[in-house]
Amino acid sequence: MKYRKLGWSDLHVSEISLGSWLTYGVGVEADAARACLDRAFELGINFIDTANIYGRGAAETFLGEALAARPRDSYILATKLFFPMTERDRGLSAAQVEKQLDASLKRLRTDFVDLYQCHRYDDQTPLEETMRALTRAVESGKARYIGFSEWPADKIRAALDIPGVARFASSQPQYSLLWRDPEREVIPLCAANGISQIVWSPLGQGVLTGKYRPDAPPPAGSRATSEEMGGWMDRLLARPVLEAVERLKPLAAEAGLSLAQFALAWVLREPNVASAIIGASRPSQVEENAAASGAEVDPALFEEAERIVAEAR
Ligand SMILES: NC(=O)c1ccc[n+]([C@@H]2O[C@H](COP(=O)([O-])OP(=O)(O)OC[C@H]3O[C@@H](n4cnc5c(N)ncnc54)[C@H](OP(=O)(O)O)[C@@H]3O)[C@@H](O)[C@H]2O)c1
Repeated sequence: MKYRKLGWSDLHVSEISLGSWLTYGVGVEADAARACLDRAFELGINFIDTANIYGRGAAETFLGEALAARPRDSYILATKLFFPMTERDRGLSAAQVEKQLDASLKRLRTDFVDLYQCHRYDDQTPLEETMRALTRAVESGKARYIGFSEWPADKIRAALDIPGVARFASSQPQYSLLWRDPEREVIPLCAANGISQIVWSPLGQGVLTGKYRPDAPPPAGSRATSEEMGGWMDRLLARPVLEAVERLKPLAAEAGLSLAQFALAWVLREPNVASAIIGASRPSQVEENAAASGAEVDPALFEEAERIVAEAR
């Protein structure tokens, strides 16, 4: 496993990290979830991403329990706030930052998170109020660094312009061969300001493993077949997307990689990406995906892959 510096921070995160949306505490049963986490640590993954909203606290509760026996300095832990935890508890007000961070720490059974992220931008709260609250979270030692997820470029810029507040170290956008939006504005802006990307759904929720075929039903046991986990895949399972993914398979084979590894190596070719946050429902997936770290791929194969996907749009 290789590691990359997270923005201007002193955190060195594994190029492949493990997330917990839909999976841990929700759609993947606890033994399998623990096995994934154990395998991840064995393979050198040191970075775990979660959020208060995942399973409305259930993912954090699972992680708190599963991580309890490990030395706190042996892993880097990131969580987030914004989405509604109750009818009233939502957004990025000062009161919510304080309340949600304390609740996350309690579930995670720790005194601090390494990275506290704003899950989305909150139009209902003045940005300065949020930034001052995040600054207090850092000063209190409860959050070592702060980040955001899916903030528009103008809001990122506005936050950077506020004097005397904690500086963002990370940005968490969706990014994959199937979703390249961050390349337009967010990546250049962040690269110029010491902010790294830690990217979500780098495998397009599993579509970029090639296991969903255009002419066959989704394989048994896959996310697309799961009542709890399969609700966010429509765009990804569209026929032109699946046909394009079929055409990527020979390119991955030429690179000597599985398609999942090829897709992760593509994400990691971007120097502003510090880590690809994968999901995993079984340890063998963690193994396959972790092996993408350090893979060297002829850029011509990546260019061909980009051309194939662009044609499918
Ligand atoms: N900030 C945000 O708004 C946001 C949004 C979404 C996610 N995230 C973060 O990003 C993380 C990753 O998102 P994601 O789960 O969508 O990522 P992903 O890595 O694109 O998809 C993960 C899923 O694909 C399947 N898979 C993974 N590796 C595989 C392999 N080698 N072979 C076959 N199938 C494989 C598994 O599902 P099955 O085995 O069930 O098919 C797995 O759960 C989340 O856990 C979360 O931490 C953040």
